Amino acid sequence: MNILIVGGGGREHALAWKIRQNPDVDKLFIAPGNGGTALLGTNIPLQDDDIEGIVTFAKDNGIGLVVAGPELPLVLGLQEAVSKFGVPCFGPCTFAAQLEGSKAFAKNMMQETGVPTAAFRVFDSHERALSYVRTHPLPMVIKADGLAAGKGVVIAQTMHEAEEALHDMMVKQVFGAAGLTVVVEEALIGEEASFMAFCDGSTIVSMPSLQDHKRIGDNDTGLNTGGMGAYSPAPILPEEQYHAMADLAIRPITEHLAAIGQPFKGVLYAGLMMTVNGPMVLEYNVRFGDPECQPLMARLKSDLVEIMLACVKGTLSPERVEFLQETSCCVVMAAHGYPQAYPKGMAISGIEEAEGIESVKVFQAGTRLQDGKPVSTGGRVLGVTALGTDLQQARERAYLATKKIHFDNSYYRKDIANKGLRRS
Ligand code: AMP
Ligand code: GLY
Repeated sequence: MNILIVGGGGREHALAWKIRQNPDVDKLFIAPGNGGTALLGTNIPLQDDDIEGIVTFAKDNGIGLVVAGPELPLVLGLQEAVSKFGVPCFGPCTFAAQLEGSKAFAKNMMQETGVPTAAFRVFDSHERALSYVRTHPLPMVIKADGLAAGKGVVIAQTMHEAEEALHDMMVKQVFGAAGLTVVVEEALIGEEASFMAFCDGSTIVSMPSLQDHKRIGDNDTGLNTGGMGAYSPAPILPEEQYHAMADLAIRPITEHLAAIGQPFKGVLYAGLMMTVNGPMVLEYNVRFGDPECQPLMARLKSDLVEIMLACVKGTLSPERVEFLQETSCCVVMAAHGYPQAYPKGMAISGIEEAEGIESVKVFQAGTRLQDGKPVSTGGRVLGVTALGTDLQQARERAYLATKKIHFDNSYYRKDIANKGLRRS
């Protein structure tokens, strides 16, 4: 079977690495891919929003499965576009993808289906949003409704910040149409955790819990990023709670979508806040997290292609999805300056030495190959991922491996998994 993965980050390298382990996979294409995926298949110069180009490529190259890495192609209708030509797509339909594409849609569905989430109001008038915000207690959270490259959430500590956020989104339109509608919600306090499940439209199979590290600086300081590291399982969400968590955060949504004829097929990701009043859902993603996918693929024992096909066909069963008991930890190495302006084009060395350490795999994110050697092209450059018998060992191996890798202006957090260690 020929497979096309859409996307070009660390997540897609991890997916390609896992998919390559299936002996029935003939040609593997990645659009646009990166320096890591180029070692496992053929990178295709198509961007992830080029739905027409992806469909044409899939038709012309006998693709038997399209795998959507990021959310954008799903929100733009990739699933229907390729399915129309009989090509299965791992990822939900456009309607279900609104769970990530529109925060108002997600919040309304949570409210309708009884999923615990922060109290909220939705506005498309700046004037009305402003008068509501002026009566709302601080801190409060202001979110652009649409996709805003992870930058559309402001946790306002002062009224000035809240008013400024509304002005930026609704008047200055810094996120374009994505900010014309906003969600204003109560700020929740707690530790965050990530919970994902494979879904085939009716059956859901939980994956091990994870914890991401969204801020750029140690001890969760500084700007929000796409994620600076992750580990699995997260002791804050132990295995004995997965079943209850699936019932709380995943099943109400998938059952509702099935009932209205829009079954969810793919990965549903609930971003959770573990509050004193119990877990609450902050947001949904309709795909694997990145970097979360990297430590997750390191632990996945079962065949990923079979799982993905089962999700598409509606034949998923828990027996198909097995994870290693070991713990995994991923440390993201970024270019200094990320998530703001950062230098590019740095030559990367030491990946082989890093992978010489037991149970270490280095996934590439913002890289390309130049004369067969990786150079940086993005803010998040590598995801240095290790397995261990426990979190301490996985973390030690990952950090040991980062020390073998060199590129100019490299930066990584030094405290990945510390929260987990304190609990374990
Ligand atoms: P979201 O894209 O909705 O997950 O928001 C991005 C980040 O903003 C989350 O990972 C949280 O760290 C934070 N956040 C979002 N909503 C809230 C909330 N209601 N209370 C506190 N923090 C939040
Ligand atoms: N790491 C957060 C995300 O993938 O949304």
